[in-house]
Amino acid sequence: MDYREFYDKDIVSIRDLSREQIETILDLSEEMIPIAKGEKRSKMLDGRIVGNLFFEPSTRTRLSFESAAHRLGADVIDVSQVSATSISKGETLADTIRMVDAYCDVIVLRHPYEGAARLAANVSENPVINAGDGAGSHPTQTLLDLFTMKRSKESLDGLNIAMVGDLKYGRTVHSLVDALTMFGAKLTFVAPESLQMPEDIVEHLKSKGCTPVQTASLEDVISDADVLYVTRIQKERFPDPAEYDKVAGTYRIDNAMLREAKKDMIVMHPLPRIDEIAPEVDNTEHAKYFEQAFNGIPVRMALLCSILGGEL
Ligand code: CP
Repeated sequence: MDYREFYDKDIVSIRDLSREQIETILDLSEEMIPIAKGEKRSKMLDGRIVGNLFFEPSTRTRLSFESAAHRLGADVIDVSQVSATSISKGETLADTIRMVDAYCDVIVLRHPYEGAARLAANVSENPVINAGDGAGSHPTQTLLDLFTMKRSKESLDGLNIAMVGDLKYGRTVHSLVDALTMFGAKLTFVAPESLQMPEDIVEHLKSKGCTPVQTASLEDVISDADVLYVTRIQKERFPDPAEYDKVAGTYRIDNAMLREAKKDMIVMHPLPRIDEIAPEVDNTEHAKYFEQAFNGIPVRMALLCSILGGEL
């Protein structure tokens, strides 16, 4: 397929994309790398405006969308605090989206509530990109995660992937598992019982022919993994702080633990990390998380180019 088929399309959930569509975006992302690194200049989105609406904290997603837009010659208008908008006076999200829709060509939305991006896409004339909705999904993170795996492992097919940490509230893994099943991944979910992958997602995976292994023991599975995808325990989503205290610090990846891993096993993390990966791991060949964060730029450039009608 041609990336131009994404023109004017929303990106709300990774489930809205086929394997072929994902591969098209990943191929285009590869072509964006020299522009993402500043080695090549582009004005392909000259005159277009990206509206970044971030109603939850973000470093990587917000700034990499902004960087991606600038690298392609687009302008950015942005909001990073609810208190700076008329939402603080009582305006609804739907009306806010209608207004921003009138001021830009594509809306990038991060919001604390699951379903917010779908609502925004329903009221906006211009396309909406979901930059994370509560514990729901984070489809652009999934695309950059896949891009990182593909660049490290050559092929995405049949990888053995262990996901560790907060699988209940971690929206990155909720999106990622959907995409990985399209590539025949073998999935292992490592979490304490209270933070295991939600049952509806596990059932959905089974309906697609993927039956994940679920365990609390990382030691039992680390030696077979091609990719160890580590997640932060999402303190801000726990209704009861005492429940967070029970699971905080459950897993910590360090060099001693990595001695059991395959030599070419990669460690990924959507970041931010707190204490779940020891800093000593950063200097090993396993560590891919900073490269992964950089990959947000070419992947988001590929999305903006496709959705806004850019030409390579
Ligand atoms: N991975 C990710 O979404 O990071 P931010 O919360 O910093 O955007």
